[in-house]
Amino acid sequence: MTSPHLSADGVEAAKLAALEAISTAPDLEALKEVKINHVGDKSPVAKFSQELGSLDASARAEFGKIVGQAKSAIATAFEARSKVLEAQRDERVLIEERVDVSIPARRTPQGGLHPLTILTNEICDLFLGMGYRVAEGPELEAEWLNFDALNIPADHPARTMQDTFFIEPLDSHLVLRTHTSPVQVRTMLQEKPPIYVICPGRTYRADELDATHTPVFSQVEGLVIDKGITMADLKGTLDHFARSIFGPDVKTRLRSSFFPFTEPSAEVDFYFNGRWIEWGGCGMVNPKVLRAAGIDPDVYSGFAFGMGLERTLMVRHGITDMHDIVEGDTRFAQGFGTGGR
Ligand code: PHE
Repeated sequence: MTSPHLSADGVEAAKLAALEAISTAPDLEALKEVKINHVGDKSPVAKFSQELGSLDASARAEFGKIVGQAKSAIATAFEARSKVLEAQRDERVLIEERVDVSIPARRTPQGGLHPLTILTNEICDLFLGMGYRVAEGPELEAEWLNFDALNIPADHPARTMQDTFFIEPLDSHLVLRTHTSPVQVRTMLQEKPPIYVICPGRTYRADELDATHTPVFSQVEGLVIDKGITMADLKGTLDHFARSIFGPDVKTRLRSSFFPFTEPSAEVDFYFNGRWIEWGGCGMVNPKVLRAAGIDPDVYSGFAFGMGLERTLMVRHGITDMHDIVEGDTRFAQGFGTGGR
C-alpha cells in the first residue's frame, strides 16, 4: 500500500477506511486480513506514526495527537469487532459440532460362536460342575483305538468302507474316527481311576449330506470309571444331563441294545414335546475294554454314553434341516442371537 503524505485529511481517510473495513469484515478470517492492511505495522496509520519522527517538535505534537487518536479509534473498533465475530463463531461451532447422543452407534460386525459350539460349551460346563474333566482326542485316529480296543471285531459291519473313512495308504491303519469312544480308551490308558471325563468332538461317517445326516458330525462322550459304579449312576447322570439340556420336565428311558464296548448296553431316549426321541447309546463299560486298558474289572466298574450334538441341537430348537447347521450361513447363527451381528 502506498503511503499518502502525512496530513490531517490523510489520517482521517486512513481511519475511516480502517473503520469501514473492520465493521464490514464478515468473519475472523477476513478480520485477520483487515488487521494486516489497516491495523498492523504495514498499515497507513503505522506508517504515519513512523513519519512523526521526521517532523519538528510542534508539528510532531500536533500530528502525534491526530495519529494517536486515529490509532486508538482503530484499535478499539478492531477489538470490539473481534469480540463480536468470536462470539458468532463460538455459537456456530456449538451448533455445527453438536453431538447427538441419541443417534444409534454404528457397530462393527463381530464374529460369534456357532450354536453347536455354544451347546458343546454348555454341556462341558454342566459336567465340569459335576467334577468331570474335558478330554479330547485326534480326529485322525488309529484304527485299533477306534475299533479293536473297543472290542469291535474286524468283521463288524461298521468297519466296512461304506461306513468308515479309511486313510490311504491302508496299511497306515488310520481312520477318521467314527465316534468319540476312542477317547475313552485313550483316557483309560493314560489315567488311573477314578475317571470322570466328558469328551466332545468331531466325528466322521461315510454318509451323504441330507436333511438328517452329515458325513462330519459331532458327538459328546461321557466316561466314568470308579469303584461301585452301577447302571443307576448312569441313569441318574443321563436324567440330569437331559433335564439341563431340554428342560426340567424331560424324562429319559433306556432301551436294551448292543454295543461291543458296553455290557449291558442301552439306547437312551428322552420324552420331549409329546414323543420319545432317540438320543444316543450307553451302557456299562465292557470288562474286556477295561482289561485292554489295564484296569482291573474286579475292582472298578464304569459307564459310558455317547450322543450326537447336531441331533440334540435340532430337537431342542426345532431345526428341521441339517444343512442349516453345517452350511455356515450366518443368518442361521443370528437366529440364536450370535454370529456376524
Ligand atoms: N459310540 C457309540 C456310537 O457312536 C455310542 C456309545 C457311546 C455307546 C458310549 C455306548 C457307550 O454309536
